Amino acid sequence: MEVIKQASAIREIVQELRCSGKRIGFVPTMGALHEGHLSLLRASAQDNDITICSIFVNPTQFNNAEDYSLYPRTLAQDVELLKTVGCDYVFAPVAQDIYPQQSLLQFSFGPLEAVMEGEHRPGHFNGVATVVGKLFHLVQPHRAYFGQKDLQQVAIVKQLVLGLSFDVELVRYPTLREPDGLALSSRNKRLSPEQRQLAVSLYKALQLAKGLLPLKPVTSIKEAVAAYLQGIDQVQLEYFEIAHPDTLQPLAQAQGEPEVALCIAAFVGEVRLIDNILVNLNEAQIVA
Ligand code: PAF
Repeated sequence: MEVIKQASAIREIVQELRCSGKRIGFVPTMGALHEGHLSLLRASAQDNDITICSIFVNPTQFNNAEDYSLYPRTLAQDVELLKTVGCDYVFAPVAQDIYPQQSLLQFSFGPLEAVMEGEHRPGHFNGVATVVGKLFHLVQPHRAYFGQKDLQQVAIVKQLVLGLSFDVELVRYPTLREPDGLALSSRNKRLSPEQRQLAVSLYKALQLAKGLLPLKPVTSIKEAVAAYLQGIDQVQLEYFEIAHPDTLQPLAQAQGEPEVALCIAAFVGEVRLIDNILVNLNEAQIVA
């Protein structure tokens, strides 16, 4: 496995690989790797000839300077982990190579970015689209792997790929969880032991909502989720939505939809966490 720091170097490598007919799988990350990332890398190593992982804490997608500075950076440890999962190249660029000048690009994703993460983190998806676009140009993958935990990000990247005609197949991979249900996230590293125990309440809230879906209207489910989290110390709900699984637009009622996405964001202490589950309503009704 090679660690590449320069954009020009990864371009050359990719060009040679493509000329020799290799299929390239790509896992873009911001590092602080956990099993969730590693599952994407294993999938890529299995599906493609070559796997490239990028590690870059992208400044333009943070709408909060403190969040950016506190984001965990563990490159040496990440490189060791990547050696164990069939990764061939780690692309860990310096910011100057990705942003040689201040990025002025503006994307618009319409209603998709007006809700949930887009609504609560202004500019976030513009930064994600900017860096993913740049990385796709540099790495030129045949396939790119993203985790379902960032469901709205996957939808944004899908629009980016369609909008700019990137010749890349997107693979959405299921969220990996701790045994108690907490979704794996690099941000979990910032939780104190006590907060770590409380953080599972996001997953529990999603399960509560799932159980209520066949029984209650959307407004009552939202109230039940808010009331449940209000009772938990240090947990501050930012949003809970019942949304269409592809457009991510909030649904006023779930009945009649084959599948819905339950999406949540909450602060646990100072740490902002997100999670979601997809619920097949036919199955939910049978269970009920
Ligand atoms: O999901 C992430 O880690 C980031 O948003 C991504 C896709 C690597 C872009 O910086």
